[in-house]
Amino acid sequence: MADAGFAGELSKSVVAEIAPDVWMLEGYIGDQFFVKHPSSNIYILRDGDSLVILDTGAHSFYRSRMLKIIERYKKEGVKRVILTLTQGHFDHASNNEVVLESGLQWKFLLPEPEVKTINCVTDMIEDLARLEEYENVYTSMFSWNWPTAVVRIAEKVSHPIARAIVRRAFGKTMGGIRTLAERADILSLEDRVTQRFGSVEFEGWQVGRFFLIHDGAHSPGHISLYDPENKLLLAGDVTIEINPAFFYSSIDRLIKTSGQFGVMAKEGYVELVGDGHRSKTFMPGIFEKYGLNPLHKTQIADVARGREECASFFGTFHEYYSSLKKEALSAHSRIGDSTVAEIVEELGASRSPGVQLKKAMKFPDFPSRMDVLVASVLKEAGVRPRKEGKRIVLSPAE
Ligand SMILES: [Fe+2]
Repeated sequence: MADAGFAGELSKSVVAEIAPDVWMLEGYIGDQFFVKHPSSNIYILRDGDSLVILDTGAHSFYRSRMLKIIERYKKEGVKRVILTLTQGHFDHASNNEVVLESGLQWKFLLPEPEVKTINCVTDMIEDLARLEEYENVYTSMFSWNWPTAVVRIAEKVSHPIARAIVRRAFGKTMGGIRTLAERADILSLEDRVTQRFGSVEFEGWQVGRFFLIHDGAHSPGHISLYDPENKLLLAGDVTIEINPAFFYSSIDRLIKTSGQFGVMAKEGYVELVGDGHRSKTFMPGIFEKYGLNPLHKTQIADVARGREECASFFGTFHEYYSSLKKEALSAHSRIGDSTVAEIVEELGASRSPGVQLKKAMKFPDFPSRMDVLVASVLKEAGVRPRKEGKRIVLSPAE
């Protein structure tokens, strides 16, 4: 994906060796999701004569930076590149073709559930379709402000037209990328192995010295990467403020995984944490612009370092997700039978710092929505919607 004319801003992103032979290429994060798309952090880790690339970002700007690092290690005897992704989303998967340019043998390991996700436009339209069972998405998601008003007007005329407009808009932002999915080696669910770190246990895949933890939290096949040599945990989008970002994101898995990662840190297995979107260059400005107080100092930094800082970083996200779930359920139980929109309104009055943070990140500036939070929490709590005339009504969980 081209850099849409903001190469100057992208060039402020930092390339840093965060541990010996572990590189972090800082991505991009802004507050105009459809105009200046986010790009994930990219990690390149050396493991003997292999390089593992975790995520490739959104903007083609990052390719030459990746190739420069690859070139250096080629000279030092690295023979192959292993590409893998924390998730199939476009902001993590748009430069996968870099492996073709590397001049090295390569393979691309793609977790089975992400084979669907990596077709980003279709995947997101389908996610919305599932959400439609719980609420009138096309009215809740798109405000009467420009440019989303176009969808609202279309929705008044015809639902298929509104849907087609949204598909086109998504296609413009995240379509047309070559992901190489057709050439990937699929990491099948069947082939997962169990790994124990102290008192926590995960399923996942061993790749060289790394363990790919299948957490399935942000997306069904989401993975986090653990590097025992550096006590490094790359948590992808397990620790990002916009969660649950999709109807298929799992609040229960976000709570569970952030809790497990916190335990790993407390027990001495983790002393360095990076994730998919931490940014010391771009994040502080966003918090400042929106008058937000970070819940943890690492939110506006690049990495967490040291056992305590890593444990408290995961602890903060564990608390954040737990409070979002608790507050959503209690808002619902206060007002009884209601629609998602009515629960969102009641939830918005909560003084919980987590709810206030989530509420401040508004769509389409950020890919974050309170209605998705409510619907996904209720879905996982076993609440099933029913139609009462034009209203989609939900009864509070038992
Ligand atoms: Fe992401």
